[in-house]
Amino acid sequence: MPQSLSHSQLNDLAERFGTPLYVYHAEKIKEQYEKLTSGFSVIDAKFFFACKALTNINILKYIDSIGCGIDCSSINEVKLALHAGVHPHKILYTSNGISFEEIQEAVEAGVHVNIDSLSNLEKFGKKYGNSYPVGVRLRPNILAGGNLKISTGHERSKFGIPIDRIDFLKQIVEENQIKIKTLHIHTGSDIKDADIFVHGVKVLSELVSHFPDLEVIDLGGGFKVPYEPEDEETDIALIAGKLKKFLDSHVFNGRKFQLWFEPGKYLVSECGYLITQVNVIKDNGVQIFAGVNSGLNHLIRPMMYDAYHHIVNISNPTAEEKAYTVTGYICETDTFANDRLLHEVREGDYLVIYNAGAYGFEMSSNYNSRYKPAEVLVKDGEAFLIRKRDEFEDLLRKQVKVL
Ligand code: LLP
Repeated sequence: MPQSLSHSQLNDLAERFGTPLYVYHAEKIKEQYEKLTSGFSVIDAKFFFACKALTNINILKYIDSIGCGIDCSSINEVKLALHAGVHPHKILYTSNGISFEEIQEAVEAGVHVNIDSLSNLEKFGKKYGNSYPVGVRLRPNILAGGNLKISTGHERSKFGIPIDRIDFLKQIVEENQIKIKTLHIHTGSDIKDADIFVHGVKVLSELVSHFPDLEVIDLGGGFKVPYEPEDEETDIALIAGKLKKFLDSHVFNGRKFQLWFEPGKYLVSECGYLITQVNVIKDNGVQIFAGVNSGLNHLIRPMMYDAYHHIVNISNPTAEEKAYTVTGYICETDTFANDRLLHEVREGDYLVIYNAGAYGFEMSSNYNSRYKPAEVLVKDGEAFLIRKRDEFEDLLRKQVKVL
């Protein structure tokens, strides 16, 4: 399993900042971005970080600084990106089930918007006509992704305008002279199979003749990263090569389209670590539980998607391995791993959970009135606290005492 921060670095960070702690390694994000840009160098492609994966403003700023755009899924993400200093032209807002007011706010902010419903497209057309080039998010009827909860392009998915509604879409576009600049799809997350992306571009390529102002085909995110030690990396150059082959073999009346992608996990999953500390060891005769000072409130992926996250006992790395069930301190059966082989675990040891950068902190909560962890960014060998750990006042901050 590729590792960019060493056990001793992680141990020092745990001692210095306390646990539970999210740590992100900036250079790993850059390495991933460079894999994308070099893999896609054969194609005119642009990348927008799907910041729903991780929105700390320092991460947004860093990702902006290495040349990547930002893809947002709410107006507040747009505001965070602007706050981080990202230029509106580098921000994309791919909407889903939102009110028209939010689309107006995004237009006022000057960012590119992908609209995902016919009703909002119609409202957009009435208000802006051809004055603001826009995109449409389509539902391509492609089933892809690691599991159904993260599959977004299939026939029963709530996302996007179903491609079988293309006639209505065209009618709205023509009646209001809307300039459609991008056609967008996102079929799901954890996709390794290059042919899924080719299938996506094929579906969209059949529609381009309807849109004379089209400049961009946006294939969304979804590149899978390795989570389990034996997982292989997604072959980005293979995906790029297959997409190029498809595009080169189609004429489109001489028109050329830029490809856009919105990677979330690919950029930030592997850069992140959740460092926890063992509170209790419980041997019930059948299983040994290692209970850590974290839980589904900090990393919900194992409970929500049955996701595998690699775990290492960095405090006792040469001891013999035994099977442990790693559980959280939440009053639920929150489990990070079942019967997982770990080097002998003792109370007080640091257990590091890998691939914690994407949808880790971002999906955390204060359930059980627990504090959200602190976040640290390691860049050029230096560690910066980029979010303070919650304190008791944070639990009360928005409560209104009326009794
Ligand atoms: N673009 C759009 C329109 C999306 O909906 C998503 C993810 C992405 C890009 C980025 O996908 P990625 O490259 O990260 O796979 N919380 C789940 C993942 C939900 C993804 C939702 N949409 C998880 O932890 O697996």
